[in-house]
Amino acid sequence: MRSVHDEIKYLMDEINRADRAYYVDSKPVMSNAEYDKLYNRLLVLENEYPLLADSNSPTKRIGSDITNDLPEKSHTIPVLSLDKCYDVSELTGWMRKIYLKYPEGNDFVVEPKIDGAGVVLYYNEGKLVSALTRGDGYTGNDITANIKTIKSVPLEIDYKEELAVRGEIYIPKDEFDALNKKNADNNYANPRNLASGAVRRQKSSEVAGYPLRLFIYEGFFKELPHDKHIDNLKLLKELGFPLNEEVAFLTNKQHFDYSKTFKKIFINTADKIDEYVAMIGNARSSLQYEIDGLVIKLNDLNLREELGFTQHHPRWAIAYKFEAPNSITVVEDIIIQVGRGGRITPVAVLKPVKIAGSTVSRATLHNQLYIDELELNIGDTVSVSKRGDVIPAVEEVISHTGATGSYKLPQNCPSCGTALLADGAHLFCRNDNCPQKQLAGLQYFAARTQMDIETLGDKTIEFLYEKGFIKKISDFYTFDYNKLEGFEGFKDKKINNIIQSIERSKSKPFKILLYSLGLKDIGEKVASLLTDKFRNID
Ligand code: IVH
Repeated sequence: MRSVHDEIKYLMDEINRADRAYYVDSKPVMSNAEYDKLYNRLLVLENEYPLLADSNSPTKRIGSDITNDLPEKSHTIPVLSLDKCYDVSELTGWMRKIYLKYPEGNDFVVEPKIDGAGVVLYYNEGKLVSALTRGDGYTGNDITANIKTIKSVPLEIDYKEELAVRGEIYIPKDEFDALNKKNADNNYANPRNLASGAVRRQKSSEVAGYPLRLFIYEGFFKELPHDKHIDNLKLLKELGFPLNEEVAFLTNKQHFDYSKTFKKIFINTADKIDEYVAMIGNARSSLQYEIDGLVIKLNDLNLREELGFTQHHPRWAIAYKFEAPNSITVVEDIIIQVGRGGRITPVAVLKPVKIAGSTVSRATLHNQLYIDELELNIGDTVSVSKRGDVIPAVEEVISHTGATGSYKLPQNCPSCGTALLADGAHLFCRNDNCPQKQLAGLQYFAARTQMDIETLGDKTIEFLYEKGFIKKISDFYTFDYNKLEGFEGFKDKKINNIIQSIERSKSKPFKILLYSLGLKDIGEKVASLLTDKFRNID
């Protein structure tokens, strides 16, 4: 008779095989009913014999409610980023330079540059032991428990030596659209931001609810099993890692053995790169995931070693990006804003620059993650675009003219000094008495899209707050504005206008008042549902 131990092992293997077939190879090998039967049996056994339950069991993919503060850990491989170019001629120039140096080393592998959240997976003795974010390339955050919930991540592999793989966690476009439809009140900016935030949730049970996927693109073996990148990719695929289907092989030799693994093999190809770039450019919008360019890598790993690295990137690979930068400027400073909900937002103060007709002098940097991904610091020369033609965004560091390393957010609130707490990708000040939070809440209340008290602009409210006249929302309606007489900039006429606009605001509909209060989770939509049902604030 089979021991419980063996049965657990058997069930785990079968479920892993089914997950891989479904999530990696898109070729299901069993029905849902069969799958559920195995899964439930495994759950029963693991409950009955907790000592025999494996921490890498597929049942662990549902995650847990334990709060995990994602501690920093060192990478055991250097996690470098790539040099970039924006022009096919730059790209062919780069390839030609390598051809000239190594006439025999003229094979390249071209991979889509997946626009997701970078991750490094570490395996030992065939098991996933840890998963780290890229971080600054030397240390990342430990997101192991979160990554284990992603079904296309192999928890066990048939390779016993130490192995690290780099890949990108992403959310398919259609899943992203479906999520945004469900959360009309809370649209996510793009699949990448959502994926980056999701892998950093503090509870892995929450991560399990996001449609996260993985593509891998580089393997780091203790002892090289092959001396060609393409063979390593093939091996990784055979081990059960999800490999992108659009990976192309540019070679001047005949290779028949790769045609099963790689759809696109181009023979004799220094010049074929433009063809491939154009092809992927055309296919881009119909791909199921976002890509922001291509990565061109030298295939020969011995030549890679000879070429080596600069401070920041390998010399044997380059990223070709689809979107050219719009304007170049310098980050003169990074300031920290505290939102009304306590969210900390770093903002780049830019040397003013013209982009598409208007002058831009600030751009949000969102969070530490965004800064780390850019590898940005004060003093750096950057390219700035206007996303959707409105919102300025720092796209790239063009040259690291500033301090070394990426800028680090403070650990304490710049306004009240309270220690900041992480939630997802963001830091928060949780002090309800934080002056900056209170001020932001007052400004929000009076702003045009809320109560629309035109005479109380951000500057005026800041003055009233600093003088101690208005500390909370109700003070707007109890303060005697005549006391402003004599303060600079407050003539009779201005004071009268304020009093009138306060009076006018009293006739705003209840719904607007309700969401102007800025209560957590009560946006326009919820406020509307509530005020349809309830007549007053009681
Ligand atoms: S190779 C040394 N390949 O783009 C190897 N990166 O700046 C360097 N990325 O941080 C990375 N798809 O997160 C590589 N097929 C691909 C990629 C890729 C996306 C991301 C990755 C990296 C950034 C490069």
